Amino acid sequence: IAFGEEQEALVVNSWNVMKQHAADTALSFFLKIFEIAPSATQLFSFLRDADVPLDKNPKLKAHAMAVFTMACESAAQLRKTGKVAVRETTLKKLGATHINSGVIDEHFEVVKFALLETIKDAVPEMWCPEMKDAWGQAYDHLAAAIKEEMKLLS
Ligand code: HEM
Repeated sequence: IAFGEEQEALVVNSWNVMKQHAADTALSFFLKIFEIAPSATQLFSFLRDADVPLDKNPKLKAHAMAVFTMACESAAQLRKTGKVAVRETTLKKLGATHINSGVIDEHFEVVKFALLETIKDAVPEMWCPEMKDAWGQAYDHLAAAIKEEMKLLS
């Protein structure tokens, strides 16, 4: 399915609802990631080092917000230009951070699955196959850009 105004609206409208409960959304997103891939906790320096419980960890919330907001921005870009544009400096930094943290391509699939499940649980009344597809496309384009940068660095 092409990415048009309808797809962008599915992403943006659901995000506008979810971000009102950003802390809960972030926590449930991470719990899902770690449910599927428990060893992924070891990738995050702020989880390795800290003895703060997950739901009190500000950095965990920051990463969850970054994934959601960047996927949301990707949706807007996709609708406007048909591709995702992340600033080159940002992309370089993202590539480096993820490579250096030991993130591999498969982790992006885990995170995608967790993202979609989180949205489904957070806005069940809005959830539909078209919404799943729109978020999936926005995420895939963004993830592809980061993975490409990681490949250049490895
Ligand atoms: C760091 C975004 C996917 C694991 C970061 C940062 C951002 C970010 C903005 C901090 C920026 C920096 O320090 O350079 C994203 C986006 C993703 C994504 C937009 C998907 C589209 C993933 C995946 C994993 C992951 C799939 C692995 C499960 C990490 C880790 C860090 C990090 C381990 C470093 C955290 C630390 O130890 O401080 N990510 N990320 N990210 N991300 Fe991601």
